[in-house]
Formats: sequence, C-alpha cells, structure tokens
Amino acid sequence: MTNPPSEPGTVADVAHDRTIPFARPLLGEEERQAAAAVLDGHILTHGPQVAAFEAAFAKRLGVRHAVALSSCTAGLHLALVAKGIGPGDDVVVPAMTHVATAHAVEHCGARVVFADVEAETGCLDPEAVAKAVTSRTRAIIPVHYLGLPCDMDRLSAIADEADAALIEDAATGLGALWKDRPAGTIGTCGVFSFYPTKHMTTLEGGMLITNDDTLSATVRKQRAFGYDKTLGERTLPGLYDIDTLGWNYRMNEVQAAIGLHQLDRLDGFLASRATNAKLLAERLGDLPGARLFPFVHGARRSGHFCVNVTLDPNSAIRREDLMAHLQSRGVGFSVHYPIALPASRYYAERLDRNSGAFPATHWPVANWIAQRTLSLPCGPHLVEGDVETIAWAVREFFGKE
Ligand SMILES: Cc1ncc(COP(=O)(O)O)c(C=O)c1O
Repeated sequence: MTNPPSEPGTVADVAHDRTIPFARPLLGEEERQAAAAVLDGHILTHGPQVAAFEAAFAKRLGVRHAVALSSCTAGLHLALVAKGIGPGDDVVVPAMTHVATAHAVEHCGARVVFADVEAETGCLDPEAVAKAVTSRTRAIIPVHYLGLPCDMDRLSAIADEADAALIEDAATGLGALWKDRPAGTIGTCGVFSFYPTKHMTTLEGGMLITNDDTLSATVRKQRAFGYDKTLGERTLPGLYDIDTLGWNYRMNEVQAAIGLHQLDRLDGFLASRATNAKLLAERLGDLPGARLFPFVHGARRSGHFCVNVTLDPNSAIRREDLMAHLQSRGVGFSVHYPIALPASRYYAERLDRNSGAFPATHWPVANWIAQRTLSLPCGPHLVEGDVETIAWAVREFFGKE
C-alpha cells in the first residue's frame, strides 16, 4: 500500500496500488487443510466437526450449550419458534438493525414492534422498549450495535417484568463484554453470525448459545426437520419419526472445520481489531460536525466490529460526498444499516396495514443513523499503514489533514 505523503497539498496525487476493503476474511493454510480433510472423508454433515466446534464455542463463551446453524438469521428464527412465539404475539426489535432481526419475527407470524435506539450508542434504547412493551410482548431482541453491548441490566429487568424472552442478536457482538460477561450470554440466548465480514467466519454460518437445556434441545431438533432421533441415535439407519415442525438450518462439516481454526485465531483477530479501532478513533476524534460511537460506555466494552463516523443531524456535510471521496482514495467502507427498518418498503407497508401509518419521526434516532452513518474498516485484514491511510483520507475530506 502506498502511504499518503506527509506533506499537505500532494495527497491528491497519490497513486494507490490497492483499495483497502471494508472487511476481508482471513483464511489460511490450516483452514484450507481442515476443509480438504473433511472433503477427503465421507462425513459431510451431522458429524464430528460440528460437535467439536459447538463444544469449543460453548467453552469459550462459558455456556452450557452452543448449537451450530446455517446462519444467525436461522438462529434468531429458531429461538423465537422454540419459545413458542407466533401469531398474536409481539416482539420488540430495534428500528436500527439488519433486516434479519425483524424478518425472523415475521417468519414466526408474530408482530414486529420497532423501538428506537440510543443516540449515544445506536443500541436498543431501554426507555423506548419500556414504552413499546404490552401484554402481547413475548420477546425482546437487543442488537449489540456494531459490537457494543446494549444496556443488559435495564433490558433484562424489562423482559423479566413482562415475562418475555430476551434474545440477544450478537451477530456483530463477538468479543464484546457487559460487566465482564460476554455479550450473548446474558439473555435467554444469544445468536452469532459467521458471515465473511464478521469477527470470524465459516463462510455462512451462525451459533446459538444458551444455558437453557430445553431451549437448546428444541433448537437442535428444529434445525434438522424435527426428527425425533439424530443420525447417531438411530439404531437402524433411515428410521425415525418426526415429532415437531422443523427446518434444514444445519451447519455442514466443512464450515465447522473452518470455524474451529477461526476460533483458535479469534483472540488475535480481536486484539488486532481493538488496536486498529483505537488508533483510528484517536485520529478521528476531532472531526467537525461528526461523531464516533464509543467503544466503552459504562459497563459496556465493544468487540470493535468497525469504526463508525456519524454526521451530526444538522451538519451540512453530505454522506454521499464523504463516500465518493473515500472511494477516490481507495478506502473501503460500509453502512450499518442503510435504512431504519420501519421506513423500509416492506415494513412501512406492514405497519400501515397493522397499526396505522407512523411518521418517520417515530424512530428519530434510527432514521438519523441510517441517513448519516458510515462504517470504516478496523479488521485484522488491515496491513501496516492502512489505519493511517484511512484516517488521512477522512481527515482530508473534513479539511483536517
Ligand atoms: C445485527 C444483525 N443480525 C443478523 C444478521 C444476519 O446474520 P446472518 O447473515 O448470519 O444470517 C446480521 C448480518 O449482518 C446482522 O448485522
């Protein structure tokens, strides 16, 4: 990577030999060999790699159960199904999240109730949740926004009071801490994503963790069609009964073999993310008309999914201009998330049908973030000089280089 020269005025002429990607999975020789070993064998699914990955993940997070799945979305869906949530029930979801969080509720036939997020963190706002909870509420899904945990004390208290499940969407929450407890271990269950941009990857994949024996057993059964016997439990091959509705949401053996090695490397990945994020945040702490969401907030410690620059509501700066500038400088970025879900075409229609039209101002913080935030890279794929280049490009845009 060509570093920008230190002298102001010449930066526009820098020829970058590479675009810094927002994220890039780091898959090495060990992952390759592990995948090849599975392919050379005859057990491609239902096998020992998945069992070993689940055991290692549960041990690392300090929970009784980990259930490997085809995605985080599948885990959110099954968690709701396993809690018996369906038509006639409400589930409170942040208005600022990936659509998977809300779609999981829709798939159960329950009603999505959106609550706004905190302006300081982007995490689900307990006050908004308290207002959204009714006698129909059966679950609350806090999303640990970009790696920072939600206020789990207050959300747990609200969930307990409402007798509702607290399902942590920890898709971007690996490595995050709430009072020294890992995000994902505090509520009824937590669900992680191993999509390629995440803290570790199994290509696609997810993991549900819980200390609830019944929930774990139900999810395990429902991820595999609702068979009453697993492959290992069948005395005669091919013979089973079906005692519940299920899906095919399994993780396969290649994914799990890769996941085991990614898990071994997770501490290194997290350390690198923390270092990059802190360096970048230090360099971007004084941008006029913009702010960064914190990595530490009270009892919350981030797992550093990204560094997000959010333009102030009244700033005259246009996010599209910042994007175009970064593109011209070879700096990758992403947006989390590009639309407040109640304003998305699908959910706007649902809200109209079910509850009368809501103005966009109903979720002001989510709408502001959706329109004005930009996520910068901090992953372990960054090489020496990248953080400096990213900081330089952003500062240049803000006239601060
Ligand atoms: C907050 C959140 N929840 C759920 C998901 C879905 O994860 P997956 O792609 O593993 O289904 C994502 C994806 O990025 C996400 O950001």
